[in-house]
Amino acid sequence: MEVVICKTKEEASALAAKMINEAVKKNPKTVLGLATGSTPVLMYNEMAKAVKAKKVSYKEVKSWNLDEYVGLAPTHDQSYRYFMNENLFKKIDIKLSNTHVLNGLAKNPEKECKAYEAQIKKAGGIDIQVLGIGSDGHIAFNEPGTSLSSRTSVVYLTPSTIKDNARLFFGGDMTKVPTQALSMGVGTICEAKKIIMLAFGKGKADALKGCVEGGMTQFCTASALQAHNDTWIFCDEEAASKLKLKKYYAWRSAVKLGL
Ligand code: GLP
Repeated sequence: MEVVICKTKEEASALAAKMINEAVKKNPKTVLGLATGSTPVLMYNEMAKAVKAKKVSYKEVKSWNLDEYVGLAPTHDQSYRYFMNENLFKKIDIKLSNTHVLNGLAKNPEKECKAYEAQIKKAGGIDIQVLGIGSDGHIAFNEPGTSLSSRTSVVYLTPSTIKDNARLFFGGDMTKVPTQALSMGVGTICEAKKIIMLAFGKGKADALKGCVEGGMTQFCTASALQAHNDTWIFCDEEAASKLKLKKYYAWRSAVKLGL
């Protein structure tokens, strides 16, 4: 795990975007795994800037998103499909038909999840998986108590995640947040060739501590990334504030990135 600690989330987002843009320049057919939430928005803006400046093209890129709420139509303004269209897909030159988000209205959700995994496999697997982290240490919607080898499936949100997501979305109304989602599993996520996680703010400090320096446990599903050999965490100083070895990580990653 490489932990890149930046002064600001703007700086961290620009570095993460650069890593993705460089990879797409090298391989225009890169397969991306994408994430929602407030955290990746700045990085998505940086990716859009690069496309606008014609520094990179996403025309041949394919993407699969991590998760979607059960019961929300893709056109619902709080659905993750809608979020991706507005915050990234409309701003870059990716073909919408090459972007994939689980269908929250699927009549047979288990079948939908299996088919999603099969699509990813057929595309050759995810080259770069983007992740945020929940304040309880979850990745995608893999809540505490989820097996670290879980596959894409129907999952159940904890009250704390429902509260977090209501604060930022759904107009602050907890009763409007769906209680179930379709989510890529921890095992599915860990099959990505490269993983880029973003974490900003002091609200993520405990989760990041658990992810990087805690034991590998299903009570912090992000800790499964400890067994992945190409994971990069781009964070700000607040999110990194509880890490014991933060100076060492910052130095090592700066050398590796040539900063
Ligand atoms: C949701 C998403 C996660 C995301 C998390 C954090 O639970 N399913 O993928 O990482 O929210 O969201 P935020 O970035 O808004 O803090």
